[in-house]
Amino acid sequence: MESKKIGIVGSGLIGRSWAMLFTSVGYHVAIYDVTIDQVTSSLAEVLKQLQELEASGMLRGTDDAQTQHNRLTGTATLKECVCDAMFVQECIPENLDLKIKLFAELDKLVGENTILSSSTSCIMPSKFTEPLVHRENCIVSHPVNPPYFVPLVEVVPAPWTSASTVSRTKELMTELGQEPVVFSKELPGFGLNRIQYVILNECYHLVQDGVLSARDVDKLMSCGLGPRYTWMGPLETAHLNADGLGSYIERYGPTIMDVSSTMKGNADWSLPAANDLVQQCNDMIPIDRLEARRVWRDERLTAFAALRTQMKRK
Ligand code: NAI
Repeated sequence: MESKKIGIVGSGLIGRSWAMLFTSVGYHVAIYDVTIDQVTSSLAEVLKQLQELEASGMLRGTDDAQTQHNRLTGTATLKECVCDAMFVQECIPENLDLKIKLFAELDKLVGENTILSSSTSCIMPSKFTEPLVHRENCIVSHPVNPPYFVPLVEVVPAPWTSASTVSRTKELMTELGQEPVVFSKELPGFGLNRIQYVILNECYHLVQDGVLSARDVDKLMSCGLGPRYTWMGPLETAHLNADGLGSYIERYGPTIMDVSSTMKGNADWSLPAANDLVQQCNDMIPIDRLEARRVWRDERLTAFAALRTQMKRK
């Protein structure tokens, strides 16, 4: 029988979120970080969050918070964390050198059946898995923050990742209640961040060129494109906005190409070039109010996740 153990390496924001998802459906999770103090405080933070979710009726899975938390163990060594695990989820900082070093260590510690998965947001898996003995078992499972409420996972194989690693990862993500999308090949930034960066570039130009304020650019999304894309993507939206996508292209294709030819593309995402944009965002939400605003955002994402679940049943 396949092991029901999951190893999580890195117990920051994303590591803790994965731990909560895996324990919610019955997996035993071992979690490791560079210091045991970090592991201990992460275990306490997870328990607090599970209890809060239970109190607000948003706990996932069928077991209570304490039962789910009992499936989570802190470990003092990497070996203990990944030994006999069926799946290891790496959640260390977004730094290529760190990922290269860690995957080389993991490669020596795991057997043939362990999948080595990275949470990286943008780094292609070929960049940190090429020389490994177990490179067929390496893959990216990129979650979207906060993963407990946002279901997408980008499943991105390296050129040498085996088909069975891809299918087992997809099945596991589905079992967690997430929504995996599987890439046929790797690309920098995968899919979500490539689209996000196109949007950010255009927002940058609209603000820096003085066409719109930062507040109004955000309103284009939160009051316009955001609600439109809540339940379906841009392609289905276009498909419905005419008599199918073919008719949309006949009607609007030339306009898309005309407008697109005026776009400036890549912006200068460095400082001080982007100072005006930064200043406007700081005026909108002062830095000392960011934490309160994150709480505000998470409350709304939580309510939205509940609505999504309710609507899915219909
Ligand atoms: P974080 O900074 O909150 O946590 C990283 C944790 O890794 C820290 O606890 C740190 O002590 C630990 N760590 C560092 N080196 C380690 C090592 N060699 N072995 C074990 N633990 C180590 O970072 P966060 O936000 O959790 O991000 C983790 C990964 O997830 C990154 O690759 C990031 O790009 C990706 N990600 C982050 C998202 C976000 O919104 N924060 C969303 C999706 C993916």
